[in-house]
Amino acid sequence: MKLKGLLLAGGTGSRLRPLTYTGAKQLIPIANRPILHYAVEAMVQAGITEIGVIIGDSGPAIRQSLGPGDTFGCHFTYIAQDAPLGLAHAVKTARDFLAEDPFLMFLGDNLLRSGLKPLVDRFVSGGYAASILLTRVADPRQFGVAVVEKGRVTRLVEKPAEPPSPFALVGAYCFQPAIHTVIANLKPSWRGEYEITDAIQALIDTEHVVDATFVEGWWKDTGRPEDVIEANRLILEDLIPVQHGTWDEASEVVGRVSIGDNARIEHSSLRGPVVVGADAHIRNSYIGPYTTIGDGVWIEDTEIENSVVLPDSQIRRVAERIDQSLIGRGVRVQGQMQRPKAMRLVLGDHSRVDL
Ligand code: G1P
Repeated sequence: MKLKGLLLAGGTGSRLRPLTYTGAKQLIPIANRPILHYAVEAMVQAGITEIGVIIGDSGPAIRQSLGPGDTFGCHFTYIAQDAPLGLAHAVKTARDFLAEDPFLMFLGDNLLRSGLKPLVDRFVSGGYAASILLTRVADPRQFGVAVVEKGRVTRLVEKPAEPPSPFALVGAYCFQPAIHTVIANLKPSWRGEYEITDAIQALIDTEHVVDATFVEGWWKDTGRPEDVIEANRLILEDLIPVQHGTWDEASEVVGRVSIGDNARIEHSSLRGPVVVGADAHIRNSYIGPYTTIGDGVWIEDTEIENSVVLPDSQIRRVAERIDQSLIGRGVRVQGQMQRPKAMRLVLGDHSRVDL
């Protein structure tokens, strides 16, 4: 049995504003690679090569980033979703592409350390109508939640106020074409979306077997800024360093540190795991563990750790150490030399500053 893939790269990314005003949430880089590229890689590793990509308003940027598929060893078919009306609506939109084939749907903002192969293998050998992935979470109210009895899913609820179990649905699902029949009869939820969670419940209600596996290793839904910072930390745990850039004798580079082409490090201390992008310039600074510095970023007289800085930003003379921060593209953060010493802020809509 060969599965098709359905990769979801629409959605507005409202919880990642202001970064998502100018770019897709799935293209936010983790260790200087778009989140979406990790998702494609996981699908290809699971043997999926015919991939439909659901795109919304940010479609042109997604197409540009992924291309036709040859660089990943797959083929993409781009499918426009006219409005972000939910995961089941995305499946409906892809109906022609999916035809009568079984498929794996994966949310383009999800990262899974153990990949998708265990889920696909189980689905293929088990003969189930659907296979889902679950993981125990601290606050299940923000996810779809499943009740499992003897390895079978018996009940699912989307974003329940009173979760019936601690097990959240991870954004990876395998389906037989029977899912299309239940989606055709689905009603929108209280949040106005056609929920895949409700569609799976409808499968169970019509005597289909839905199988569940628990995630091995970590899983991250990168919907919020703190998730991006945490995803960066998890990816950097496995960093295999590559060094192309240079550092001077007054600099100290310890631990696993990747330095991109033409990056320059002067009189600075870098403690890995750290990724520094191409053409970045770091001077008189400290870059601490779990930090990714994007391409073309300038950092001077500053200490930063556990953070993600997107390309072309400039950070200079910041008096206090920057920690747990997500800094967008082309941002300037600069300490003042002259008096009166005051804060002068130009912040985009929905920016956050914690002082
Ligand atoms: C969606 C699903 C939810 C699932 C989550 C995983 O939520 O509706 O069931 O647990 O993805 O990332 P959303 O991202 O729409 O809030």
